[in-house]
Amino acid sequence: MLEKIIETTKFLRAKGIIDPEAGIILGTGLGELTAKIDKRIEIDYKDIPNFPVSTVEGHAGKLIYGEFGKKKIVAMKGRFHYYEGYGAQQVALPVRVLKYLGIKCLFLSNAAGGVNPSFQIGDIMVITDHINLLPNPLIGQNDERIGARFPDMGEAYDKYLVNKALLIAEENNIRIHKGVYLSTSGPTFETPAEYRYFRIIGADAVGMSTTPEVIIARHMNLPCFAVSVITDLGVEGKIEYTTHESVQNEAAKTEARMTTIMTEMISSL
Ligand code: HPA
Repeated sequence: MLEKIIETTKFLRAKGIIDPEAGIILGTGLGELTAKIDKRIEIDYKDIPNFPVSTVEGHAGKLIYGEFGKKKIVAMKGRFHYYEGYGAQQVALPVRVLKYLGIKCLFLSNAAGGVNPSFQIGDIMVITDHINLLPNPLIGQNDERIGARFPDMGEAYDKYLVNKALLIAEENNIRIHKGVYLSTSGPTFETPAEYRYFRIIGADAVGMSTTPEVIIARHMNLPCFAVSVITDLGVEGKIEYTTHESVQNEAAKTEARMTTIMTEMISSL
């Protein structure tokens, strides 16, 4: 694994991706944030050695490097989900490469179903903790050069960054929640009983991503900040027919607010 990480990192450095300060991984319908990256270098995943190629509509499959709010960043427009059939190694490699490129923080976004009854469609939730119901991406042989066999997960989401986001939201009049994100494999959306169950075990929002990348990042001690955009509700009496298109549409509506938060967060690093 380390050899592949180094090979890919060298390839990307040679393409001009030098010393990014932050990495961003964007979720369904939220990829347009990358339009604000200036002096950009774009590389298709398919042209990057060892990178998997994302197969989901709404996930472009490009690495974009450039200036964002005066900071150099590298963004993954398009991510890799378990439901696409990728294994742990494939999900892990891009995140590890971002770290080896030099990022100091990882920012993530996702579209999620709200199971907290106080949530509304279009709300933004800052993730303070997670429940990972996907296979743990660290299962298998561990390379101590990358991280510890048994990584601590007591502060998976950086508290300083969470508080910063709440302040930024307040200053910009953006309705925001804090909450626990639960990941499931998908690709099915939940049954009403599953939504109820996830609420009972402590979730505020449910989605199909993010926790694998956060686990991989925390294995390397990389601070993480993540937000969910609530695109549908898994709350009794409020459950509506959900499709990938409805999720994409609702996510797109919150894009401007999400971008404000992410831009200010990254500028303040
Ligand atoms: N469940 C799981 N994943 C999702 C949902 C949901 O309700 N909405 C967006 N991604």
